[in-house]
Amino acid sequence: MMTKQQNNDTFDIYDLLLEQIRDIYDGELQQIDFFNELSDSTNSFELNEFLQYHLRETERQTGRIESVLEELAEVLSGESCDGIKGLIKETRKLAKRCLNDEVCDAAIVTAIQHINHYEMAGYGTAIAYAKALERHEIAEQLLETLREEKRADMGLSDLAENQINSHAKWSAIVEKIEPRIGAKK
Ligand SMILES: [Fe+2]
Repeated sequence: MMTKQQNNDTFDIYDLLLEQIRDIYDGELQQIDFFNELSDSTNSFELNEFLQYHLRETERQTGRIESVLEELAEVLSGESCDGIKGLIKETRKLAKRCLNDEVCDAAIVTAIQHINHYEMAGYGTAIAYAKALERHEIAEQLLETLREEKRADMGLSDLAENQINSHAKWSAIVEKIEPRIGAKK
């Protein structure tokens, strides 16, 4: 039986490319709001600097997707990206449970890295579809963002390994030990 065609019906790899691009776009928009919210909760100066930088980068990435859609002569569908929504929700829950600022910073780093990896999968897939369709100019633009996401991920790993995780480790130990010392008196 034939079903009536819907806007989001997916027939071919081009439809998959479009779906992926629209999903990524909404994910980037959600991150702009979220990074603004997070910058009030960070304790590390360097992490805050990173967030500000990545926020501006994310704004440019949304512009890049808009121009990709324009080149494809397509419009936004207004669909929301449940994947990024879920990751943001998890982060809020985790940050609320963190009992000290340094541990909260470590939690924020892992949260952004989870988001970045979701994005890398999305951009990587979209690039592969664009190449399969021989839309190399589209693949090029998406690749530019994928490179930025990878750089951001490596920057966060560096920050975590060289600063944030050790600060979180020591501040957590001090906070756990101090109440016991006080109790002996
Ligand atoms: Fe992004």
